[in-house]
Amino acid sequence: MIFGPQRGPVSADELADHYPWPDRAGRAWVRAMMVSTLDGAGAGADGLSGSISGSADRDVFTAVRRYADAVLVGGGTMASERYGAMKAVSDDAERRAAQGQAEAPRLVVVSGSLDLPMGDDGFLGSTAAPLVLTGSGADPDRVAALEDRCEVVRAPDARVPPQWAIDQLVDRGLWRIVCEGGPTLLRDVSAAGLLDEADLTFSPRLVGTSATPNTDLITDPGAFELTHVLTADHFLMSRYVRASQ
Ligand SMILES: NC(=O)c1ccc[n+]([C@@H]2O[C@H](COP(=O)([O-])OP(=O)(O)OC[C@H]3O[C@@H](n4cnc5c(N)ncnc54)[C@H](OP(=O)(O)O)[C@@H]3O)[C@@H](O)[C@H]2O)c1
Repeated sequence: MIFGPQRGPVSADELADHYPWPDRAGRAWVRAMMVSTLDGAGAGADGLSGSISGSADRDVFTAVRRYADAVLVGGGTMASERYGAMKAVSDDAERRAAQGQAEAPRLVVVSGSLDLPMGDDGFLGSTAAPLVLTGSGADPDRVAALEDRCEVVRAPDARVPPQWAIDQLVDRGLWRIVCEGGPTLLRDVSAAGLLDEADLTFSPRLVGTSATPNTDLITDPGAFELTHVLTADHFLMSRYVRASQ
């Protein structure tokens, strides 16, 4: 850690303690977790974020979601990144139980088309059945097919309103929320002023941004405060928290 409360080495196991969740059950805390290249790309030439990530970033990614209640992703990320299962980890069970949490985070997918990788581990192998939030016009056949393996909830509007999505999670007791992207979902969540924390990794590469969807400018004028910076292998892992929280 080169900036923050504990300058010096931080082991992978200690990392989660540097991404604490506030004590505010019943009110959502939404953190964004994203990796970006120096030129602002969210994916490498293969269209995947793994090709711009590294082992230190993966350790942070694991720590950031370790004590989350929900991992929120858009349909594009679920499909392209072949999102894996959210499984209980025995080392974390005691602390999660003491915090009143389920054994593992719940996977939550926002998708209008419901054109999702149905056989994917995320749907079949997760400890808790995933939650899919979709629009009012969702295809009934796709809803029926998904309902075999997860809970599907339709929003009142054609597009899933970000605040409604967060309310759905809080209603289920899932208030520690990590939004892992992709760019389109994060644009909606941040434009709605819902982000409390941004955990951003800068990857030491220039790859061009053609593999990353262009999104509109974010309109949230809120300021964030830097709480720590970690570095390893020329990556920078930063944690920002919304000012005046
Ligand atoms: N750098 C990183 O940390 C990171 C993280 C995640 C992803 N990525 C990369 O980002 C790329 C994917 O980007 P993306 O912007 O397409 O990802 P995305 O935000 O995960 O997916 C976009 C899709 O999510 C659904 N969606 C998002 N917001 C919605 C809303 N409010 N209402 C209804 N549906 C909504 C829609 O799905 P439907 O089309 O199903 O309606 C939309 O097409 C991939 O290259 C991936 O590798 C990078």
